[in-house]
Amino acid sequence: MRAGHTVRVVMTHSATRLISPATLAALTGNPVVVDVFDEPEPGQIAHIRLAQDSDLILIAPATAHTIARLALGLADDMLTTIALATRAPILVAPAMNPAMWTHPATQAHVQTLRARGVEFIDPTYGVMACGDEGWGKIADTPVIVQAVQQRLQRTHDLQGVRVLVTAGPTYEPIDPVRFVGNRSSGKMGYAVAEAALAHGAVVRLITGPTALTPPVGAEVVRVQTAQQMFEAVQAAFEACDVFIAAAAVADYRPERPLPTKRKRQSQHWTLRLVANPDILGTVAQHKGNRVVVGFAAETDNILHHAQEKLMRKNLDLIAVNNVLEPESGFEGDTNRLTLIYADGRVVPLPLMSKRDCAEQLLQAVREMLLRKGRLTA
Ligand code: PMT
Repeated sequence: MRAGHTVRVVMTHSATRLISPATLAALTGNPVVVDVFDEPEPGQIAHIRLAQDSDLILIAPATAHTIARLALGLADDMLTTIALATRAPILVAPAMNPAMWTHPATQAHVQTLRARGVEFIDPTYGVMACGDEGWGKIADTPVIVQAVQQRLQRTHDLQGVRVLVTAGPTYEPIDPVRFVGNRSSGKMGYAVAEAALAHGAVVRLITGPTALTPPVGAEVVRVQTAQQMFEAVQAAFEACDVFIAAAAVADYRPERPLPTKRKRQSQHWTLRLVANPDILGTVAQHKGNRVVVGFAAETDNILHHAQEKLMRKNLDLIAVNNVLEPESGFEGDTNRLTLIYADGRVVPLPLMSKRDCAEQLLQAVREMLLRKGRLTA
């Protein structure tokens, strides 16, 4: 409210056991609704009006139960009915016991919602009301307020920009059952695709094999091998404004994949590998005024190797992650990126969720698009 927004509060029945609707009505100057049949303004169906008139819906604190209901699309109270009826962006600030937050069921629901464009203000580490310590404490109020402000400001600032994203690993067949691959889960690339969609971009996601649900709204091209990814990128590059290569492409593939499963027959087996095409390095040579962003997965001499890749591959920006560092790089939900620009700037980012990394990356992309005249403010 201090930032000038009109705030309307919707409470679950459980929330009313902790704080009275009258308190929130007095603070916001607007009626508080709890029941689906509440009609504070005669002649108006409250859940539809609130769903349609709101610029943003913030659910804070969000319990494991509410997150599950949102993921399943249930509409069994006023809050979830509005969430289902709205087209406004939804921000969720979870708060719960650490065991509940890290439970695979909750995390699966979070994943489902993220794939649909719902954004999470991740909980922090701390001591809970029950005395347990861990991840699950609601984010600090200034962090939540800032997330709301940023979300409201950035809506559609990449409207119509065509963003091409690669994600996940590639699998290079050895025989019909074995492959050479790597540990990429696709989470980083999918987060970039999700974030780009939330900014209004037109997204084509070329993905290696992953267990993830692709974000709604992206045009998805599924591939297995580096060669297939190369062909898919070549087919889409011409029509894109931005290319972000988050995929962990296998640099080598078995020279002659076997047509049938190789039996165990000797103590040793030598595989001969040949180099795959450098997808990013090849297309970026003809980038024109497109913005081309690479990632670098490094384990040593991090900045030096990333800078070398940035130059050799003719990139505008490279996001480097130290994949030996805990909670960074492959598989997890968080990453710590350092952004290295072609003009020499080096911007280290703190450890954050992959979705937040994607936001930072897109902010950088937007600035570069404006500078290249490919986007107008
Ligand atoms: O998928 P996650 O589990 O979320 O993990 C995220 C990640 C660690 C995979 C991601 O953050 C990341 O670092 N992606 C790039 C991995 C990689 O292949 O890095 P590289 O340093 O080997 O390659 C440099 C760049 O060239 C990358 O943009 C890569 O997509 C591209 N490349 C590499 C080889 C190749 N043959 N063709 C390419 O286009």
